[in-house]
Amino acid sequence: MTAGGPVLRDTAPGKVNLCLVLGDTRADGLHALVSLVQSLTLADEVTLEPSGGSRDEVVCPGVPGPNLAADALAAYRAASGWDGPGQRLTITKRVPVAAGMGGGSSDAAAALRLAARAAGQPGDPRLAALAPGLGSDVPALLTPGLCLVSGAGEEVRPLAPLASFRALVLPSRARLSTPDVFREADRLGLARPPEELARRAAALAAAAQPGAPLPLWLLANDLEPAARSLCPSIDDALAAAREAGAAAALVSGSGPTVVGLFPGAAPGLEAAASALAGRFPGACVADPVAVSGP
Ligand code: C5P
Repeated sequence: MTAGGPVLRDTAPGKVNLCLVLGDTRADGLHALVSLVQSLTLADEVTLEPSGGSRDEVVCPGVPGPNLAADALAAYRAASGWDGPGQRLTITKRVPVAAGMGGGSSDAAAALRLAARAAGQPGDPRLAALAPGLGSDVPALLTPGLCLVSGAGEEVRPLAPLASFRALVLPSRARLSTPDVFREADRLGLARPPEELARRAAALAAAAQPGAPLPLWLLANDLEPAARSLCPSIDDALAAAREAGAAAALVSGSGPTVVGLFPGAAPGLEAAASALAGRFPGACVADPVAVSGP
């Protein structure tokens, strides 16, 4: 407890796009896409507690500047009318920043969940309506787990977990701006027609049955050539993941983080991650999460 009330805690998992199929730009400027999104145990830690003042504040050591989580708190207050005391949201970063793993979006999703709890409305159904307005990855991360995403990210279909697999996460020293990567994808002409998106969504839904093995033949990221074009060092990380024995190696989202996927228990993977940490600082092993705990 602090002077004004309890400290509420949540985790904000990073994600990997096991598949990302890119479509055309919509009227709202966002790209249509189909994606199989898996939350990972590599997660930020987020707490919410009364600040002692009247205003909300976000503390995120190491990440200066405006924070999407502050927008999430403001959006929840505006939508719910909650006028509880000023809150301090503290984010301890573990997920690489500006790296394609959805860390900032997941922090915003956690901020929504925590605000609803602080307001005495855990699981408030308004959260789902607020998430898309904060960012296109926020809806998928509002309820961490495995999901099939469509629209521009706002349509989320939760799925039961696949058979166990492990992820080798290889962060990059570089950062990529998401809009830049989508622009580069347009320049390279990577978008697929709507009927192809529908076909791939159906194939993913059919393959991603509860307990099914990773559908390796469907795992690909259409943004990968754009991310590699802007950040050629990604190729080293893709090669390193494959040399470590990954059954599939992908850029996550808009990159530049690379994730190697290993079906089953993948013995020795921690040692492989440690051996790669010199070349890829922060290299680590992460597991899929089904549902985040409070
Ligand atoms: O939604 P979010 O703020 O994460 O998106 C950042 C930018 O990435 C958008 O402004 C847009 O340029 C691009 N984007 C896109 N289509 C999507 C998601 C993101 O074009 N589905």
